Amino acid sequence: MDLHDFEDVAENYDNYIDAFRVPDEDLINFHLELAELYGGAGIVDIACGTGVTLIPLIKEGYKVIGVDISKPMLNVLERKREKLPVNIQRNASLIHANMTDFKLVKPCSLAVIPRSGFMHLLLEADQERAFTSIYRNLTQEGILSFNTFDPNYELIANNLKGTDPSLVFRCEYTNFIGNKEKIWERVCFDPENQVLSGVWTFEEMNAQGKIINTRERPLKMRWSFEPEIRYLLRICGFEVINIYSSYKKEPRKYGEYLVWIVRKKIQ
Ligand SMILES: C[S@@+](CC[C@H](N)C(=O)[O-])C[C@H]1O[C@@H](n2cnc3c(N)ncnc32)[C@H](O)[C@@H]1O
Repeated sequence: MDLHDFEDVAENYDNYIDAFRVPDEDLINFHLELAELYGGAGIVDIACGTGVTLIPLIKEGYKVIGVDISKPMLNVLERKREKLPVNIQRNASLIHANMTDFKLVKPCSLAVIPRSGFMHLLLEADQERAFTSIYRNLTQEGILSFNTFDPNYELIANNLKGTDPSLVFRCEYTNFIGNKEKIWERVCFDPENQVLSGVWTFEEMNAQGKIINTRERPLKMRWSFEPEIRYLLRICGFEVINIYSSYKKEPRKYGEYLVWIVRKKIQ
């Protein structure tokens, strides 16, 4: 089980994600812009989670299929969807599936993997399977956008596997039952496998600030080198259109996230 497979994490996701560093506004605007350019024949929102991008897209009238491996995350999204007007609800359908192996009834013109979805694939073989799967579910010249984590050597060297990683405070937020909660994180970097293994500690407090519950949840993600992703894309039939360092479309920068926009090559 990884972070988002836990029910408590899924229920709290929308509450804590707001307190994190990447503002949802940029993420949403980026995807609305992509939808306007490429989403006319349908969008598949892969690793859609609780629908941070899917909901604004369907509200704008786009037909979106949400795919996610976590049932608890999809349950939260389903409840949000049910609260929308029926004509908007109809714009979305949800599929419980692994991005490495999913099948849509009809191909879409745009596939997006917003935020960190793609980084949850820990093996290069799974990344390749995901690209292959997405390729099959895209129309001719269909577009894919996803994110990778560019290796930051200083960060990796400071928290190498086998050392005692530092405890980092991530945020304080109000959880879904109305209590304050703090999130702390410890991350070990495994350079052999390009995997960062984290443990998130959720500390729930009562009104007096006393800790009443502590939960530890694992989180593993893979970092990828730009050339290896370029190679995988090439052998899976994609060509790169653009790479940014953020959803604000800042230019590519060492050690940051890489936001990729790629296109299915014409055969
Ligand atoms: C950080 S959340 C991002 C959710 C949403 N896209 C957002 O921007 O808020 C990562 C999501 O990826 C999903 N995920 C992880 N591995 C996956 C896989 N192999 N196939 C489909 N979804 C996956 C998790 O269940 C989780 O919902």
